[in-house]
Amino acid sequence: MKFKKNILCIGAGYVGGPSMAMIAYKCPDYRVTVVDVNSDRIDAWNSAELPVYEPGLDKIVKKTRDKNLFFTKDIENQIKENDIIFVSVNTPTKTYGVGAGMAADLQFVEKTARQILKHSRSSKIVIEKSTLPVKTALAMERILASAKGKFNFEVLSNPEFMAEGTAMTDLEKPDRVLIGSRETDRGLKARSELIDIYARWVPSEKIITSNIWSSELSKLVANAFLAQRVSSINSISALCEKTDADISEVARAVGMDSRVGSKFLKASIGFGGSCFKKDILNLVYLCSYYGLQEVGAYWESVIKINEYQQERFMANILKNMFSTLAGKKICILGFAFKADTGDTRESPAIYITRKLIAEHAEVIISDPKALKNAAIDLAGIKENVKYIEDPYRAIAGCHAIAILTDWDLYRKLDFQKIYNSMIKPAFLFDGRNIVDHRKCFAIGFNVYPIGKPALSHFKT
Ligand code: NAD
Ligand code: UGA
Repeated sequence: MKFKKNILCIGAGYVGGPSMAMIAYKCPDYRVTVVDVNSDRIDAWNSAELPVYEPGLDKIVKKTRDKNLFFTKDIENQIKENDIIFVSVNTPTKTYGVGAGMAADLQFVEKTARQILKHSRSSKIVIEKSTLPVKTALAMERILASAKGKFNFEVLSNPEFMAEGTAMTDLEKPDRVLIGSRETDRGLKARSELIDIYARWVPSEKIITSNIWSSELSKLVANAFLAQRVSSINSISALCEKTDADISEVARAVGMDSRVGSKFLKASIGFGGSCFKKDILNLVYLCSYYGLQEVGAYWESVIKINEYQQERFMANILKNMFSTLAGKKICILGFAFKADTGDTRESPAIYITRKLIAEHAEVIISDPKALKNAAIDLAGIKENVKYIEDPYRAIAGCHAIAILTDWDLYRKLDFQKIYNSMIKPAFLFDGRNIVDHRKCFAIGFNVYPIGKPALSHFKT
């Protein structure tokens, strides 16, 4: 079959796989190919067990794979054959040299640009889908410009705003699609070519355009604003615990102001995920690079509050369990950084588990999707950690439960049955405020929510 457009994506990760699956699904007359240097990942994309868990993803992949969606390791030939190339490689925080621990490590993006340059035999549109520091497109352009007029490479910025766990609905019904380009004839032409792809299913008023630098910067700022809301509400949760105010009631009252809005105001153990921390660090680094120390310090405080929230949660466990956890069994319910994903990158559960182990507790970890990744994250810890998927079996014989992920299934557990199976006094630390605290207290638990008065059977 002859396809109308041939699209390539370099990077078959959490973004590359689902976003290209959506394009293939919505545009059956386009051929979409995804490549990766990680051959296990490509094998997994071609197997029955996809490397990424996302509700609805498997259905779309089944419908499109080997029809107009292809996963392959042959990067070289795919660069030759495709004229529209998305770059969706990882951009982690740099761990070495200048900017270590802050700046984005751009080596994978730069390698991709060099690969494109090396293997291209025609002009191409190169689209930044990875999250990048503002002005990265300039480096991409400069590398690609060394083709010395043989071909033209037009670099666009098209950051991805999907969240994990809701990726497929976010991709199908995005709040907006942002496309940044150079405002030259060629830039505008490339921009309209990319608009044509999204226009197949995204209403035109939701496809917005800007200059390329605004587009790159908007992605970092969007994540910083979202994370800031979580840190803002979490900071107030600490004050609620001191004053008998209830964070859910405060969040509702504040969020009903239409200027504030109700989303992203759920107090929690703290935000995790691969992007919030790295993108804010990246923003802070950019501010300091441009001499804007005060601006950098403002955004850095969002991360500090997030760390404080996790420390506070851990200190609360220790203090309320009579200041010793040695030999006690603690069940962690949920290891993923949020519900509906198996992703554990930067999950607060990693920090909490390490701290519990340092206190010589025995930790039993339960999660419906993330146990494989949890075992990788905790590979260095050989003793005192068990992985049990069934929550009832995981909790039986434990002194305490710590709920760290907002999986829906935890709301529906039979807490009477659970209480009966635990060592008494039984403790419940709800890092997500998802269970019925009064009911659990009535059953016999000592309950410690986030940002609400504790419900304890001990007399003070
Ligand atoms: P990921 O680590 O899951 O995937 C990146 C993939 O790129 C890896 O499989 C890696 O092997 C591959 N890769 C790296 N260099 C390569 C090269 N030279 N050639 C071919 N393949 C190469 O990362 P991700 O979560 O998909 O994130 C990708 C980018 O998208 C990041 O910049 C991230 O900030 C951004 N982002 C992520 C999300 C998310 O929900 N995970 C959402 C929006 C934006
Ligand atoms: C986030 C953004 O929401 C996406 O728009 C963005 O594309 C993506 O980062 C990215 O660039 O990677 P994601 O990290 O997948 O998506 O998930 P979120 O739903 O944003 O949650 C992030 C963290 O904040 C989770 O740990 C979540 O539990 C926590 N959170 C979220 C709260 O604690 N409270 C809230 O009210 C909302």
